[in-house]
This record gives sequence, C-alpha cells and structure tokens, in this order.
Amino acid sequence: MTRTREALAAALAVQDARAVPRPDGAAHEARPHARAVVMTMGALHAGHLSLVRRAKELADAVVVTIFVNPLQFGPTEDLDRYPRDLEGDLRLLSGPGLLGPDDVVFAPTPQVVYPDGDPIVRVLAGAVGDVLEGALRPGHLDGVLTVVLKLMHLVRPQVAVFGAKDAQQLAAVRRMVHDLDVPVEVVAGSTVRDDDGLALSSRNAYLTPDQRRQALALSRALVAARAAAEAGAGPEAVRGAALAVLTDGVPADDVHPVDVVDYVALVDPGTFAEVGPHATGPAVLALAARVGATRLIDNTELLLGGEVTA
Ligand code: PAJ
Repeated sequence: MTRTREALAAALAVQDARAVPRPDGAAHEARPHARAVVMTMGALHAGHLSLVRRAKELADAVVVTIFVNPLQFGPTEDLDRYPRDLEGDLRLLSGPGLLGPDDVVFAPTPQVVYPDGDPIVRVLAGAVGDVLEGALRPGHLDGVLTVVLKLMHLVRPQVAVFGAKDAQQLAAVRRMVHDLDVPVEVVAGSTVRDDDGLALSSRNAYLTPDQRRQALALSRALVAARAAAEAGAGPEAVRGAALAVLTDGVPADDVHPVDVVDYVALVDPGTFAEVGPHATGPAVLALAARVGATRLIDNTELLLGGEVTA
C-alpha cells in the first residue's frame, strides 16, 4: 500500500517498466491497456471488487485508490461517520483474482491530496452537476470531478472503471473527460446487487435489519419502472410506476415505503436532463430516497417507446 505521492510515483515506475510493450500504441492481444485505475472511498464491498476485476481484464497493472474526499461532502453530510476500514479493504483486495504483486493501492491522507488545503481552482460539473444529486448536494459533483481529475493526473491511467450505480457521477466523469480532453478511457461496470435486489453500497452499513428490508423499495421501484417501459408506457407513467413503489412499498412482500423520496427522475443518459413527455429511446430512471437517516440512490437504464401495447 502507498500513502504518499513519492511512494505512488515509485510504484508506478515499477508498473511502467513491466508493462507489455505496445508498439505503435497497438492494443495488446489480451489486455488493451498498460494501467487501469479504480477510484473508491473504501469500505469496500463486492461492487467495488467487480470494478477491480474489470480493471484487471483491461490492463497489465491496476491502481486502486482509497480516499474519502472531503471536497465532495456537504457541511451537514456524513464525512466524519463515513465507514473507514483500511485493513479490511486491503484484505479484500488481496483476494483471488484481485490485486497481484505489481498492482498498487493508493490510500493518501487529505494532506497528501490537498497539501495547500482546499484547492482554489476546481472542476465544475456544470449542467450535469446542477440536477438531481447536484441539486440536493450543491457542489458534490464538482468535488467529485476535482478529485477524479487530480487522481487521474497522479496515477496516469489509460483507462478508469466507474460503477453504473452512481450513474450521474459516471455521466459527469465522461463529460469531463470529453470536454477537457483528458486522455483516459472511461469504462462502466454494472451495479452489483444482493440476491434480493438491494444495490451494494458502503452506506448500507448504516441500516438496521428492518431498514435494510425497507430499502428494497428502491430496487423494486426500478423493476416496476422497467416493466412499465416494456409494456409501452410513456415517461410520465414510467416515473409514476417507480414513485408508487417508493411511497406505497410492496405490501405483498412486506416491503414498507421509504421515509422520504428525494427524487424520481427519467433522464437522458448523457446529459442527465429530464426527458420530454414524448421521449423515446434509451433513458435512465434515477432515484434517491431516505430510509431513516440514510440516503440511498439507485438507477436503471430502460428503453422508452419500445413496443406500444393496445
Ligand atoms: P465510492 O462510493 O466508494 O464508489 C467507488 C466506485 O464504486 C464508484 O465508481 C461507484 O459507482 C462504484 N460502486 C459503488 N457501488 C457499486 C455497486 N453496487 N456495484 C458496482 N459498482 C459500485 O464513488 C465514489 O466512491 C467517489 O465519488 C469517488 C469516485 C471515489 C471520488 O471520490
């Protein structure tokens, strides 16, 4: 594990020296890239590990960053109580099929990432960062993009793997890479769920057993929205189907309603702008809800205007 910029640079030099030569920039047969990065805030679970496995397929060497980034937490958010378990994380990352001897974990302190305190110059997520998560957590996606760009510069990967679980974050990172010509390919990893459908999240650790059951309303709402879209429902009805599950629960399965619905939105996958009332084609149904004091998000892709039923 490396904690300082110097130790990281030394470990990257070893990776660079061992990378498979790619003459003329041609992709190596088995793995297209020399180095992949997976950025995390730790408290790792199987969702994070699936991104690491994807990264291993994509590159000769992998860097996993573990850093709870103060810049992306609002003043009333859970920065101080965010779960931290570096030892447990390192144990998980050394499991089968995960990190090998040349792979690197970079777990810096805030002083290492922000040696001069809060940065004066930052990345702005703009329109992708003003809606949904951004509207409820002002500055959150700016803080995410600022640390993501810094970590990209420190790690110098050719490819970065981000989870579709945080779909708006993924869209914002893609947009930053595009708009600012960052020479990194962004790859999405699909959301890993428990058997009952709950999306894995470090914040699930806050839930009591009863709240965990209640949290199933989120994934059930996505199932309802997808079913509505497949049946030919328009945007308003698709949104309504998801909202109904969040506010009513699924009594037949003893799934109670969530405590607060923050939003249910049907958006363009690239810009995260709400789709119009007659939109067709791919869209993302994104939702955020609170169970007790815990805020959870989930989303699904779906196809609007598929088969129209009578
Ligand atoms: P964190 O919440 O730790 O998530 C790290 C990565 O894991 C993100 O790309 C996220 O989308 C992905 N992830 C989380 N839950 C997942 C699941 N159930 N299945 C698949 N992937 C999942 O997102 C962040 O950290 C931070 O904002 C960060 C990008 C590290 C910047 O600080």
